[in-house]
Amino acid sequence: MHLHQFLIILALLVGIAFSCVHDSIEPDGTIEEPTPSQDQPEGLRLQLRDITKQLDYKCGPKYGSCPSGTCCSSSGFCGTTSAHCRSPDCMIDYGFCDALKTPKGPPTKDILRPHVGRVPYGPQEIRSCTVPGTIAFTFDDGPTRYTGDLLDLLDRYNAPATFFVTGINNGKGPIDDPTLPWAGLIERMIISGHQVASHTWSHEDLSKVNPEQRQDQMLKNEVALRNILGSFPTYMRPPYSSCLPGSGCREDLGDLGYHIILYDIDTDDYKNDSPNLIQLSKDIFDRFLNAGNSKTNSWLVIAHDAHEQTVHNLTEHMLKTSARLGYRPVTVGDCLRDPRDNWYRTDNRGAGHKNKKKSPKKGPKKSNAPQQVSADGTCGANYTCLGSHFGLCCGSTNICGNTTSHCGHGCQKEAGYCAIQIPSNGDAWDPKFPGTKSVKSEADSNGRVVGTAAATSLVLALIVAMWM
Ligand SMILES: *[C@@H]1O[C@H](CO)[C@@H](O)[C@H](O)[C@H]1NC(C)=O
Ligand SMILES: *[C@@H]1O[C@H](CO)[C@@H](O)[C@H](O)[C@H]1NC(C)=O
Ligand SMILES: *[C@@H]1O[C@H](CO)[C@@H](O)[C@H](O)[C@H]1NC(C)=O
Ligand SMILES: [Zn+2]
Repeated sequence: MHLHQFLIILALLVGIAFSCVHDSIEPDGTIEEPTPSQDQPEGLRLQLRDITKQLDYKCGPKYGSCPSGTCCSSSGFCGTTSAHCRSPDCMIDYGFCDALKTPKGPPTKDILRPHVGRVPYGPQEIRSCTVPGTIAFTFDDGPTRYTGDLLDLLDRYNAPATFFVTGINNGKGPIDDPTLPWAGLIERMIISGHQVASHTWSHEDLSKVNPEQRQDQMLKNEVALRNILGSFPTYMRPPYSSCLPGSGCREDLGDLGYHIILYDIDTDDYKNDSPNLIQLSKDIFDRFLNAGNSKTNSWLVIAHDAHEQTVHNLTEHMLKTSARLGYRPVTVGDCLRDPRDNWYRTDNRGAGHKNKKKSPKKGPKKSNAPQQVSADGTCGANYTCLGSHFGLCCGSTNICGNTTSHCGHGCQKEAGYCAIQIPSNGDAWDPKFPGTKSVKSEADSNGRVVGTAAATSLVLALIVAMWM
């Protein structure tokens, strides 16, 4: 053994002892970073800290709760990294979790929830559309890094769809956080004629949580969506499609004024998220459609905008096939013939919601803004896209359009609407997160995290790596 190798291992062990002692926890749940040791190299110290954070404590049904402010990962380790705290995997009964964060602004609890319209509310579940010739594409678990591309695609096909939005799943941060891109995407869903529905705050299994947690899951997502849109949905889909009779779930959702929406075509897209496998989902879809007839049938399709192949491959196939067979893509509300006013409950009190919610079509507000509506699709200093029929956003190349390339980076605010902000962290949601892929039986997915059980082997791997 060489001397430097010996020293590295020694430093490693010292580092572990050091970091275990120094992760102090503030009463409000924030974590104080350990003070840097003077004689450890900075890079090594940081690496060690990340590893040892995961080694600290065990938690869960056998071991009990984590120290205050730390999260219990799905594999039963306390810690403060996004791997520990990301819901739905984080164990909410044994520590802090993203799920326990609360969006700002007045609670929606006291808003009246009359059961208007003809579409049944909970406890009844809805599995099918009722208007012949319609197809309702639905996308769960977003918004995600792929949602902008999906909106571009749906725009191109002029195809309304329904988004079952989750408030804070997979470590993406709260949807109403103005520094994240999610609120802009949700606004864009509405602008583009899609329906926004709820898929709970943090994607917990509503059959397994207690009644208070269940209500929390719905109300927190209402507040977050209200903060973005000035209203919240009356349509929802239970995570994992799980709302079992006898759990009280269906009744509770009915009391909260929700339509419980399931599906009659399950694409299994979350099991087939690779170029090699996605054909299986296309086959499932084609089999259903080929067996039906657009004069008499209608379809309610489940897919997930959390998956790359769903957005970049499967959806266009479904749009083409359904169009060829004579189906009309519509929102869930429309495929049930429910008037749009019944899809949301208005609440204009949102803290983040600045009541600036004039529709972008109302035109320029500033005196230095261009006065003329673009007549030829160009925009910029003198022409605005607002009110034109080329799209609402003025892109960096002075062309109006509705796509991410127009409404996102480089979009000119003075000459149109700009919906998408670029993620400040670049990578708020990573589907390739280590250990995310464990297949579940439910027709729903969120990539349940395996978490950090392999922490010890990580240390070993690091030692081995240094050896070579
Ligand atoms: C852009 O979006 C607006 C709002 O939904 C819509 O009215 C308009 O038709 C869209 N324009 C194009 C060119 O897609
Ligand atoms: C799309 O799916 C097909 C299989 O249906 C596959 O052969 C192809 O490679 C996929 N394309 C991309 C870009 O992933
Ligand atoms: C915009 O209008 C002003 C005043 O009419 C004119 O001087 C200017 O050249 C125009 N700019 C462009 C880019 O057309
Ligand atoms: Zn889901």
